[in-house]
Amino acid sequence: MEVRGELIRVLGIETSCDETAASVVALDGERAPEIRSNVVLSQIAEHAAFGGVVPEIAARAHVEALDGIVEAALADAGVDLADIDAVAATAGPGLVGGLIVGLMTAKAIAAAAGKPLLAINHLEGHALTARLTDGLVFPYLLLLVSGGHTQIVRVAGVGDYQRWATTIDDALGEAFDKTAKMLGLPYPGGPNVEKAAEKGDAARFAFPRPMKGAAQPDFSFSGLKTAVRQAASAIAPLTDKDVADICASFQAAVADALQDRVRRALERFRSEFPDMKTPALVVAGGVAANRTIKSTLEALCRDAGFRFVAPPLKLCTDNAAMIAWAGIERLSAGLADTEGSFAFVPRSRWPLDGVSAPVVGSGRRGAKA
Ligand code: KG4
Ligand code: ZN
Repeated sequence: MEVRGELIRVLGIETSCDETAASVVALDGERAPEIRSNVVLSQIAEHAAFGGVVPEIAARAHVEALDGIVEAALADAGVDLADIDAVAATAGPGLVGGLIVGLMTAKAIAAAAGKPLLAINHLEGHALTARLTDGLVFPYLLLLVSGGHTQIVRVAGVGDYQRWATTIDDALGEAFDKTAKMLGLPYPGGPNVEKAAEKGDAARFAFPRPMKGAAQPDFSFSGLKTAVRQAASAIAPLTDKDVADICASFQAAVADALQDRVRRALERFRSEFPDMKTPALVVAGGVAANRTIKSTLEALCRDAGFRFVAPPLKLCTDNAAMIAWAGIERLSAGLADTEGSFAFVPRSRWPLDGVSAPVVGSGRRGAKA
């Protein structure tokens, strides 16, 4: 399918975790891409009582909501299915029940409407978002920090990704969520830990900075979580002041550890692309909302001569515009395997980078991290 220079509109569908989302993104010749609609239904309320995402509840909620969300996305964009050039859906990695719902729905819509289908890697959606929002050119560095992923990826082209670091245990958002749960703060933990930390003393607890200074480029957060648990049980019952101090100290440790890991990656990027005048670091994922983390990374980039790119939060967290956009990028690059997409079976694990060795071991379904 030749798309250069003409109007192309792609319907995106995202159901890999606890957001049911659909979006229409358009690219018209050389003009900047346009998000024509971006509908996201969060399931936070359904999962809150359990302190985390329950896969079965998520899958059921996707089944119930998806048709209406797709209709809303088309209506918001003012288009019919007939106007759509292709359907792009997240096919992994993620919770397999939700992936099945999204990909099957996309297959049915594409088959019924006679449109090409694109099975998209969720991580590719995050990786390419900065080109949709900021028109970024390749190569750049991506820091993805969400509830499910903590990775540094060198993005050199559509389909050209190299993972430079990943977590060897918990994802960063998961560490925030578990810390919140331990302290009796509501789900999702990240925003509540950040709020509590505002009134806290970050110097009260000297929590570890996992992997700081390590030669291995990866992240680790489970030791920090254990240290939080030990500190909390040592002074229980906790006052509001104790909770605030633990949150502030935890956040400071996280920011410090992140800074060390990211600085290392910026240095590597510099040495691999010495001729780039202003290289860029892009952040994505829900944790990028955290102001302490954001300002730490911003300062780091300033010192290292990197441009710091943080797409609007709505497009940093899970959404379908990034999936539609990844579809447009694949079509434009001539990398759309639409026949293979119809045969594609959803993958709970699907590393973006098929080359870098898995850090935590790999199973039948591919690398774990
Ligand atoms: O990207 P996202 O919306 O969903 C996926 O995990 O894919 O990220 C959600 C994660 C949760 O773990 C949540 O606690 C965390 O992002 N989060 C935050 C903040 N807002 C959301 N973590 C730290 N500070 C925040 N302000
Ligand atoms: Zn995500």
